[in-house]
Amino acid sequence: MTEIEAKNKIAALSDELREYNYNYYVLSRSLISDYDFDLKLKELEQLENEFPGLRQPDSPTQRVGGEPTKDFLSVEHKYPMLSLSNSYSEQDIRDFDQRVRKIVGKEVEYVCELKYDGVAIGLRYEKGILVQAVTRGDGNQGDDVTNNVKTIKSIPLKLRGNYPGELEIRGEIFFPLKDFERINKERLENGEQAFANPRNSASGTLKMQDPKEVAHRKLDCFLYYFPITYNNAETHYDAMQYAASLGFKISKNMALCRNIDEILEFINDWEEGRHHLPYEIDGIVIKVNQLKMQQQLGFTAKSPRWAIAYKFKAERAETILISVGFQVGRTGAVTPVANLKPVQLAGTIVKRASLHNADIIENLDLHYRDFVYVEKGGEIIPKIVGINKSKRKPDADKVEFAPVCPECRSSLVRSEGESAFYCPNQDNCPPQIKGKLEHFISRKAMNIDSLGEGKVEMLYDNGLLSNVADLYKLDYDSLIGLEKIIPATEEKKEKKVSLQDKSVRNILNGIENSKKLGFEKVLFALGIRHIGETVAKKLVAHFKSIEKLKNASIEQLTELEDIGDKIAISLNEWFKDPKHQAIIEELKKSGLNFEVHEQDNIAKTNNLEGKSFVVSGVFGQFSRNEIKRLIEENGGKNIGSISAKTNYLLAGEKMGPAKLAKAEKLGISIISEEEFMKMIDY
Ligand code: IVH
Repeated sequence: MTEIEAKNKIAALSDELREYNYNYYVLSRSLISDYDFDLKLKELEQLENEFPGLRQPDSPTQRVGGEPTKDFLSVEHKYPMLSLSNSYSEQDIRDFDQRVRKIVGKEVEYVCELKYDGVAIGLRYEKGILVQAVTRGDGNQGDDVTNNVKTIKSIPLKLRGNYPGELEIRGEIFFPLKDFERINKERLENGEQAFANPRNSASGTLKMQDPKEVAHRKLDCFLYYFPITYNNAETHYDAMQYAASLGFKISKNMALCRNIDEILEFINDWEEGRHHLPYEIDGIVIKVNQLKMQQQLGFTAKSPRWAIAYKFKAERAETILISVGFQVGRTGAVTPVANLKPVQLAGTIVKRASLHNADIIENLDLHYRDFVYVEKGGEIIPKIVGINKSKRKPDADKVEFAPVCPECRSSLVRSEGESAFYCPNQDNCPPQIKGKLEHFISRKAMNIDSLGEGKVEMLYDNGLLSNVADLYKLDYDSLIGLEKIIPATEEKKEKKVSLQDKSVRNILNGIENSKKLGFEKVLFALGIRHIGETVAKKLVAHFKSIEKLKNASIEQLTELEDIGDKIAISLNEWFKDPKHQAIIEELKKSGLNFEVHEQDNIAKTNNLEGKSFVVSGVFGQFSRNEIKRLIEENGGKNIGSISAKTNYLLAGEKMGPAKLAKAEKLGISIISEEEFMKMIDY
């Protein structure tokens, strides 16, 4: 391809991809499948690699680019970024309306908008290209977070339509609730503490050094204000329609209101409606619509006189702190939980509240028997937001973070820069052992679902499991008849359950099948702190075997994309522990995969769809477990014993003569390893 041809192709592909992005992220319209989008993006990336001189800063490939940011530059705002004055009652709004009308005369039109609970951002475009994104900071100067903001797909890197040479626009970056929950789920799976709330974590995310991690979080942004007039707009409403025509994401939930009653109706509607939005809002913003009037009204030192924020009253209740419990997670992180005198809040009875970490207890200055305020935000468990100190008992004791683990009495430790306290007794602390076992068998790890629903706990309590390697030593005789007493609760009486034949067979089958899973699953299942699913896949793809991974230095590890010091140190420390090495040796002996096998590279087919196999004997090229894995990966099913429904008996050497005879009698096809390989196009 000539340079001219490449230039044209790059321009065409960029325009096409921009159009798909705009439709998807701004207008919520899907015009292309993810797969086809990725193909086109890859094609563009390849062309830009071949012709690096043709790569444009506003190319759709440049959303996640550049080196990690070490320090965020402080830059001055061209127009100060002011805040809004707050109001909390109908009277406050009536007073605001009076003040406005006194200055501008009788007829005033207002625009009511949602008040997004996020982080204010100022965007600057030159010749239609995004050149700078700055946080509010102190209003006069803020931090340059351009690289991180570029990862937000609803923010155009290049404007559409009729844009001026220079343009500034303001808006709010927020964490959509579904992505906030997704990230928290991932954090818990990786043994990290969940984030406390969407706003603070959006703010923290913008200050992260690695734009890739920012992109992964999927922040979003609504734009709501131009600091100067563009396109001769006469009203704020028209200015926002102009912003939409440039490709910005503007909220649909805006209303033109001609009087106080219409404003109050908007507020009332959203007081309830906010609970059904996919993001958090903390109030309503009321703005004078006519821009001339806005100019007439002007600003105070802190905020415009032409706008006011109405803040929703958080749903809050007052109750008494009875005690503080400390829960130990699978990685040893200790989470404090407040036990409260039950109280009614937003339609449910609240008995517990999250205290999150030691800093939060300290900042609240929490004492036992305090009268505390609990609020419900976006999170499921309500939180303590304040204390009614006037009701504090003079002799009340201060709540201190537990010095020792509530389960095993080990002294707790806190690593530098982390808010969580950990119990260091990883291998002997009961909730950590149980937590690790539960993580190991979970769906995304070894997927032994027949052991779910408290069965792991039952085996642990009966002394059969003390680490994950013990799972593979279980047999029929040790499991059959095992008992568990389920203690009585308010709703149910005490119950005794025992393992019966069918459950035992299911459990053993599940454990056996898990041996077929690949090394990346095994590595994730080990539950090493900070090693989530994605990191495990990356490590396995690069190092290929546990030996190489174990011997990798911090430098070798951090050379990999997305592997930082935190992960590298966690891995190194984990491998250093002789107990962990012993567990790996035992798991290896049990037949788990600790390296990438050649057949992992074999293209997967659907050739075995609907066919069932019995695998028996010893094979030349692959182990029995590897063959079983190939069967499943190519659409077939493994079954334990021969019946009339079996399609194939895959016969190795030293197979029992009884099986062979049975297969022959039932007329089942008996195939060799070589014939099997042909079936899967090997
Ligand atoms: S207009 C000159 N509109 O609330 C003032 N602000 O508490 C321009 N906010 O600093 C701000 N939603 O970060 C405006 N629809 C909205 C908003 C909004 C959220 C934030 C903004 C502001 C803060 C004031």
